[in-house]
Amino acid sequence: MSTILVTGGAGYIGSHAVLALKNAGYEVIVLDNLSNGHRELVEEVLQIKLIVGDMSDRALLDNIFSTHNIEAVMHFAAYIAVGESVTDPAKYYQNNVAGTLTLLEAMLAASVKKFIFSSTCALYGVPKFVPLTEEHPQDPISPYATSKWMVERILSDFDAAYNLKSVRFRYFNAAGAEPNGLLGEDHEPETHLIPLVLLTAFGKRESILIFGTDYPTPDGTCIRDYIHVNDLAQAHILGLEYLLKGGESEVFNLGNGSGFSVREVIETAKKVTGKEIKIEERDRRPGDPPILVGSSDKATKVLGWHPQYPNVSEIITHAWQWHQRRHK
Ligand code: UFG
Repeated sequence: MSTILVTGGAGYIGSHAVLALKNAGYEVIVLDNLSNGHRELVEEVLQIKLIVGDMSDRALLDNIFSTHNIEAVMHFAAYIAVGESVTDPAKYYQNNVAGTLTLLEAMLAASVKKFIFSSTCALYGVPKFVPLTEEHPQDPISPYATSKWMVERILSDFDAAYNLKSVRFRYFNAAGAEPNGLLGEDHEPETHLIPLVLLTAFGKRESILIFGTDYPTPDGTCIRDYIHVNDLAQAHILGLEYLLKGGESEVFNLGNGSGFSVREVIETAKKVTGKEIKIEERDRRPGDPPILVGSSDKATKVLGWHPQYPNVSEIITHAWQWHQRRHK
C-alpha cells in the first residue's frame, strides 16, 4: 500500500486532495503546522493521521520518512497572500522556498523521488496572450509568485541532477467546496473573491468591495478562470498515478478555460443565495492583471483530466453550502 505524505493537508486545497486520495484507496499522512490549516478537518472530518509540525524541521522530516513507507509527497504547504508577500517577502521566501528546499533534501536522503507541487498561474505575470498556455513567458510580479517560480526552477534542476520526478500544477482561481459541504475554504484573513461575496450574502460582512471598474474588459472588472477545488484534487490523483507509473517531470495548467468578471461572480452569487449583496466600488488592487484565463489542454491530453464542475454557478453553490454549514 502506497503512503502519500501531504504537506498543508489541513488547508483548503490540501484537505480536498486528502479526501480524494483517501477515496482512491491511498494511505495518507498529513504534515501541517496549523498556521492556516484546521486540525478538525484532518482528524475528525477526514479521520487521517495529522503530524503537527513544520517542513523546515529537518529532524522531524527525517523521522517521518524513516518511520513510514512514503512513496510520494504532495506539497500544498505555502503562504498564499499576494499582498502580504509584497510587504513581507522574507516570510514567503523563508517558508515557500527555503522550507520546500528542506523538504526536498529530506526526500532525497530517504530516496523518495516523486513530488506533486502546487504552483500558480500567477508566475506568468501580466498575460501577453490568453488563454495562457504552459509555454507563456514567466514573469512573476509578486514575491508570492516568485517563490513558486523559484521552486519550479529548483525542481527542474533536481530532476536533472538527482532524478527527482515532479508534477507541477499551475492553478488558476481555486474555488468551491466538497459538494457534501464537509470541506471548504476558510482562510483568516479571507482575501478571495468568492468566499468574501458569500460572507457578505451571509450577513457576516457589510458589503463586497470591487477592486477596479475601469479595466479593459466588457464590464470594467477583472476576469478570472475559476476552477472547482474537487477538480484540482482529482488532477492531483491523476498526476500521482502518472508519476507512479514512471512518468517524466511535467508542468500542467489547471483551469476551466473560461473567464468570469467580478461583477458576473457577484450576480451569480445573488442568484445562488437569493440574497441582496451590497457592492462598493474601489480603486484597482495593486498587482491584479485584467484577465487570467488558462488553457488546460495539456492536462486533458496527458493526464486525461476533465473538470466535473466547470459551471461557475455550481462552484458558487457548493461554496455556499459549505458556508451555511460552517457559519450556522
Ligand atoms: N476582488 C475584488 N474584491 C475582493 C476580492 C477580490 O474585487 O474583495 C477581485 C480581485 O481584484 C481580482 C478577483 O476579484 O480581480 C479575484 O481575486 P482573488 O483574490 O479571489 O484571486 P486572485 O486572482 O487575486 O489570486 C488567486 C490566489 C493566488 C493565485 C491566483 C492565481 O489568491 O494565490 O489566484 O490566479 F496565485
